[in-house]
Amino acid sequence: MLSRLFDLVPRGLALLPPEEAHELTIKALELGVFPHEATPDHPALALNFAGLTLPNPVGIAAGFDKDARVPDAVLALGCGFAEVGTTTPLAQPGNPRPRLFRLRRDGAVINRLGFNNGGHQAALERLRRRAARGVVGVNIGANRDAEDRIGDYVKGIDAFYDVASYFTVNISSPNTPGLRDLQQPAALDPLLKRVMAARARLLEADKRRRPIVVKLSPDIAADELPEIVARLVAHDVDGIAVSNTTLARPGLSDPAAREPGGLSGCPLFHRSTVMLARIHEMTGGKTPLIGIGGIDSGAAALAKIEAGATLIQLYTGLIYEGPGLVRRIKDHLNAAVRSAKVAAITDLVGKDAKSWAAMRLDA
Ligand SMILES: Cc1cc2nc3c(=O)[nH]c(=O)nc-3n(C[C@H](O)[C@H](O)[C@H](O)COP(=O)(O)O)c2cc1C
Repeated sequence: MLSRLFDLVPRGLALLPPEEAHELTIKALELGVFPHEATPDHPALALNFAGLTLPNPVGIAAGFDKDARVPDAVLALGCGFAEVGTTTPLAQPGNPRPRLFRLRRDGAVINRLGFNNGGHQAALERLRRRAARGVVGVNIGANRDAEDRIGDYVKGIDAFYDVASYFTVNISSPNTPGLRDLQQPAALDPLLKRVMAARARLLEADKRRRPIVVKLSPDIAADELPEIVARLVAHDVDGIAVSNTTLARPGLSDPAAREPGGLSGCPLFHRSTVMLARIHEMTGGKTPLIGIGGIDSGAAALAKIEAGATLIQLYTGLIYEGPGLVRRIKDHLNAAVRSAKVAAITDLVGKDAKSWAAMRLDA
């Protein structure tokens, strides 16, 4: 009954401007006004990701909780893990408003927030106050005006090492000018060298190994992808997140499609899934992947897993479908495990990678 009521939430929030709707959502989560997951996850959904044990593979993508205000609420909602951030060393306001747009007709969102966040210190204090339960990753970025952008990622690793379950190195946001240049093969080497050296130094002192995930853009040209993936593998990253938002505008009908910024949601599903599958093929399935982009149903979540994702994350789907989507996805994944007569959801990872990888990126 109560969870049915929460299914009406997207309709109510749609009446508010998008940033106000988001703030209200975070406030509700802070206050505990959301459908708590009452049933433990089926053991078939449990998995290991880069040494971390998770009860299920479903998470909410970075940008939802930039300042680490609600990681425990995200977990209580039934997610298998939470990711906070992107956080930058110094607080920054982001781009001028309006900077967040709903494309209702396309099931999409365009954002040009530009890493608006309260900075490392504020997020760190919140993470320190929580009981260290559940997997909570920290997504780290660079300040817009940083002189040494790579240095900002190292600061993120240093600041959060004792409270982060894993790190996501976000070099794929389109809203900080020049940030995505860090994905160029020549730039990846110095970045990953310093990030991995920071992890090695902290590992020595702390003894707990924090996995490092690198989050990529879906706009990487197909012919540049193999070299980029080769560098990530050479530096021994623990995971690759595919993908961030796109600057492309594939067949949109909503008038807000003209707004500059990163597009997320349904129109991103195909491209991000093909790219995910190609990376799964390139790495021989040895590097675990986080599949992100346009997941708005149980079927879409299963398709991402079958294309090669060990974990999945969603954001835009939640805006249109409401918090009940997490439960519906898990029910669908459970049913898929039963009907495929396999032991666990991980048995389905990459099952369809070959056929997805062979598809055109811009179908
Ligand atoms: C409003 C908004 C803010 C976002 N902020 C971030 C961010 O700070 N860091 C990041 O790595 N990705 C950010 N993203 C990208 C999402 O994490 C995700 O990669 C992308 O939206 C695709 O997933 P979706 O189609 O399920 O929304 C943001 C997305 C949206 C819609």
